[in-house]
Amino acid sequence: MTDAADAAAAARAPSSWRLYRRLLGFAKPYRGLLVFAAVAMLVEAAAAGAFTSMMKPVVDETFIARNAHVSLLLPLVIVAIFLVRGIAGYGTDIYMAKSGRGVARDLRVQVFAKYLRMPGQRFDNEAVGSMLVRLGSDSDQVAQAAIDAMKVMVQQSLQVLVMLGVMLWASWRVTLAMLLLGPLLAWMMDQVGRRYRRLGHRIQESGAQLMQHADQTLSGHQEVKVYGAQQVEQARYRGLADHNFKLALKVESTRSISSAVVQLMGAVGLAMLLFFAGHEAMAGRLTAGGFVKIMLSMLAIIPALKQLTNVQGMLQRGVASSERLFSVLDAEDEVDSGDRPLSRARGLIEFRDVSAQYHGQAAPALQHISFSARPGTVTAIVGRSGSGKSTLVKLIPRFYEPASGQVLLDGHPLRDYRLADLRRQVALVGQQVMLLDGSIAANVAYGELEGATAEQLQRAVAGANAMEFVERLPEGMQSSVGARGGRLSGGQRQRLAIARAMLKDAPILILDEATAALDTESERLVQDALARLMPDRTTLVIAHRLSTIEHADQVLVLDQGRLVEQGTHAELLARGGLYAHLHRMQFREPGEG
Ligand SMILES: Nc1ncnc2c1ncn2[C@@H]1O[C@H](COP(=O)(O)OP(=O)(O)O)[C@@H](O)[C@H]1O
Ligand SMILES: [Mg+2]
Repeated sequence: MTDAADAAAAARAPSSWRLYRRLLGFAKPYRGLLVFAAVAMLVEAAAAGAFTSMMKPVVDETFIARNAHVSLLLPLVIVAIFLVRGIAGYGTDIYMAKSGRGVARDLRVQVFAKYLRMPGQRFDNEAVGSMLVRLGSDSDQVAQAAIDAMKVMVQQSLQVLVMLGVMLWASWRVTLAMLLLGPLLAWMMDQVGRRYRRLGHRIQESGAQLMQHADQTLSGHQEVKVYGAQQVEQARYRGLADHNFKLALKVESTRSISSAVVQLMGAVGLAMLLFFAGHEAMAGRLTAGGFVKIMLSMLAIIPALKQLTNVQGMLQRGVASSERLFSVLDAEDEVDSGDRPLSRARGLIEFRDVSAQYHGQAAPALQHISFSARPGTVTAIVGRSGSGKSTLVKLIPRFYEPASGQVLLDGHPLRDYRLADLRRQVALVGQQVMLLDGSIAANVAYGELEGATAEQLQRAVAGANAMEFVERLPEGMQSSVGARGGRLSGGQRQRLAIARAMLKDAPILILDEATAALDTESERLVQDALARLMPDRTTLVIAHRLSTIEHADQVLVLDQGRLVEQGTHAELLARGGLYAHLHRMQFREPGEG
């Protein structure tokens, strides 16, 4: 690590500790398991120490004193020691894995639930991709920090302590000499390894660049071809590949040099050991068995120390991830403080001087909008793209909150109702239909509609003009729609969304360009289904289709977030304003293109 990074880490230290403590809180439910694991680790370390200690009798009794009795017993003892060690090791691994993976699971479930409770605005500020990272690698890394790091620390420290004990017991003089020299050797090895790691990091980046460029170019292959960019893209790719090639060679040579240096250092260490041990042997203070014991202990200490130096990085990554996860968990929920009971609304919607603005957007998306929509009527909302039509309807299920003014349902502000009750009153069909990988039936009877009977389901699907294609699918209602409904056409997905809305049978129906992306034939089928859905509700429809607008009870014309005209189709045409203009330019009948 560089000095700057060291300093930064030091500055963060107190808050890192706070984060880590909070993380450990997530390990609390697994306390019992962790105690078992600690006991298993102790047994493991003791077994390792016992094995190393046994090397002295093995060498001295079997080979030097040629004691037949002992030489028969020792092999059995070795097997017994490893049996105990194996069982204890399994216990450690399993108990630790259970706790660690348990913490990861608990965290990701909590974060997922939190995301579903967050206001819609959150989804504008944070890409879904980054949410997936929170649920994926962040949760795993946090578990590593909380549990795996603890495991390494305890397990390897025990290993080091036990082995040091064994060494001291064999010969404290040799051990002290090695303790003084060892760190010097370790430092030199680390210096070599450091350069190697830095290069490794750079080659990873270069690999990622290479892949990203290929991904971009190949996904856009049509543009590349149409604009004749093959040569340029190929040259760019070649440049990146060259860079990658040179780095790979550098990595290889560094790796080779560093492994030679590491081996040399190891040899130097062994030479030192031999020197001191020889000195002690001459003095009659160290037997052959004692020497083997010391050597094996040293060999066991080195990997343990290596693992201990990794703990720091593991903790840091985990703490950084936990910071991101906790910031999600600590974010505000959607405001849901209403308590006015609402089972089925009549459906009177009123906007009173409503303005709305998206976070980070300079201009308000809606300004001073007032109108009311009565039950049993259709309100068409028209306007250029970006004029605020979608924003207006999103205020009704409270996906967003107005910046000022009020939206009322049946005479009471939306905030007076519980969110779940309010949203139960609204059926929504948008341009993008959300389907999940599952059967047609599961997608139509989605969420709270789950309990619908087969008969209700049939009626909804038929009413949405969807039966026609559902029947032709191999498994009918039970056919899978594929990931995101990929096995269905746009018009088919749209009709399933309408079936869902029919099944919901809510007093408020919102259609946001439900047919805009469809071909004429699908549009006719969808339109027909919608016509069946609209009566007896309060319908708000954002449409380009002339006949929908003509038959609406009122038309709202939006322009740059303002309600500029309001009236029936005939009234607005007669005025010769924006509506008349849009009418000439934009609204169409199916087939007109
Ligand atoms: N999620 C969002 N975040 C920020 N700005 C948005 C968001 N959605 C829409 N806007 C902006 O608000 C304005 C109105 O958008 P919208 O209501 O979607 O218009 P319409 O549906 O009439 O095309 C536009 O200027 C648009 O860029
Ligand atoms: Mg829109």
